[in-house]
Amino acid sequence: MHTLDEVNKEKLPKHIAIIMDGNGRWAKQRGKLRVFGHENGVEAVRNTVENCAKLQIQCLTLYAFSTENWNRPKVEVQTLMKLLVASLRKELETLNKNNIRLKAIGKIDSLPQKAQKELSEVISKTSKNTGMILTLALSYGSRDEIKSAIKEISTKVKNNIISPENIDEAVINTHLYTHFLPDVDLLIRTSGEHRISNFLLWQIAYAELYFIDVFWPDFREHHLVEAILSYQNRERRFGKTSEQLN
Ligand code: FPP
Repeated sequence: MHTLDEVNKEKLPKHIAIIMDGNGRWAKQRGKLRVFGHENGVEAVRNTVENCAKLQIQCLTLYAFSTENWNRPKVEVQTLMKLLVASLRKELETLNKNNIRLKAIGKIDSLPQKAQKELSEVISKTSKNTGMILTLALSYGSRDEIKSAIKEISTKVKNNIISPENIDEAVINTHLYTHFLPDVDLLIRTSGEHRISNFLLWQIAYAELYFIDVFWPDFREHHLVEAILSYQNRERRFGKTSEQLN
């Protein structure tokens, strides 16, 4: 089994994003309710955050709740929100001990009051940390994010704050929820599905994609290392030829 010490520290992905999928199927395989899968998914979150921090990954972004997830059964949505509040409360100390700064992206004002309060408390209490940025995507949808950016930029154009000819990629980046993050280098999706599901569509333009046939609650150190080793063995050409890179 792979371990963290196999990773080449000179070629780390700056920004890893993860679509944590398969909690429901993991629970079903065990004859349990879907929420049991989410409860066990928390341990995989803790383990992955800790391992990324140990590797000194600069940014880790986790897809915890999509705009589409609001359509799930009420009891499942409530459980996910409760898990979020409980985990934030429980992990504050560990985040600080590991010098991790918490951030959130998405329509945060659509979350229940309790979740918003806990989130803003942990964000502010970790804001001075200088290590890894851990971003939770909550009530997040990439099309929604792009739509909001377009609205904001259009308003600025209308008010003569920006002129249309000055709209470039940097301007768009600064109007996205992710304005404080670099582009994604490595996108991991668990559970064997090969889809992006409305996650960071703009930010993954040049990301390496890694799909793994393991349900999220089972995702551990050796899976993370496998994904990073795969990333480190790929040639990222950004549209150039191999010869131009060498
Ligand atoms: C996808 O599995 C998972 C989610 C929608 C939620 C992820 C949440 C957690 C891992 C727990 C709480 C998170 C934090 C940050 C404390 P699925 O339910 O879509 O699984 P399925 O595809 O098998 O149905």
